[in-house]
Amino acid sequence: MSIKKKVSREKSLASSSVAVSVPGTTANLGPGFDAFGLALDISNLTTISLKKGPPLPPMVTSTALSFFLGSGIDSIPFSWKIKGQVPQARGLGSSVTVRLGILMGLNELTGRPISREGIFRLCAELEGHPDNAAPGILGGFTIARSLRDPIRYKVASDLRFVLLIPDFEIATPAARKVMPRSISLADASANAADAAVIAAAFATGKYSLLKGAFGDRLHQPYRTKLIPFLNKVIEAGEATGALGGWLSGSGSTICCLAPDSLSAKKISLSMKRAAPGRAKILITSADNSGARIINF
Ligand code: HSE
Repeated sequence: MSIKKKVSREKSLASSSVAVSVPGTTANLGPGFDAFGLALDISNLTTISLKKGPPLPPMVTSTALSFFLGSGIDSIPFSWKIKGQVPQARGLGSSVTVRLGILMGLNELTGRPISREGIFRLCAELEGHPDNAAPGILGGFTIARSLRDPIRYKVASDLRFVLLIPDFEIATPAARKVMPRSISLADASANAADAAVIAAAFATGKYSLLKGAFGDRLHQPYRTKLIPFLNKVIEAGEATGALGGWLSGSGSTICCLAPDSLSAKKISLSMKRAAPGRAKILITSADNSGARIINF
């Protein structure tokens, strides 16, 4: 065993349990498909203990395997628990809360053999797209470009994200299957222009630029098959003061951006009226801290 690995092992003996808080995220923000992401002030808390526990779900074992391969550390038995406010398969980055919780937790317990950038890359690789992994680890608004280091901007605390969370799940692979393999030049250039406006708005804090910039021609029009009331809910939010709205990640949550908490309430009521079924409303703000180790 190399000196580095031996040190890591000794450190791991000092602490046998760790908790990691990871924010939920909203991705795409309309035209920024697979690139834009934003961390929300809702989170899941993962606890990892270095002792054998019940059999682990496949997502947990595949993530742990990737950590042990990436760090070069021999696999160690561990037990795992997760709790929190981020629902599964609703387009709020729940799988990233699981994966980052495991990657960061195991990293902490083994003496941090992998850098934060390395943890991001492992998570993005496991996900297959980096747009939730980037805000999950860094917080704020992020622009992810495959496995390269993402660009990040802090988000103002007065903005509110009004989430309409339907009572049904959408699996990301299914939501990717309904998209065409190629799109027209006109659709691509409209998306590029609006995505540039969104990046400029978050980079400068001039959020009024966002009005009218969340239109998308690449994925949302095709995903209305899975969520037929998408446009109606966004339009209802916009009619009552939202700067805009989008399908959160691959859905099923729909997110509208309110300029402040006063307008958020009104926007939430009109979004709810426009949606059939028993959707839940959650009003939250941005998280600018990202994933973090919680000391007991
Ligand atoms: N960008 C992905 C999609 C979801 O819309 O399919 C989040 O990674």
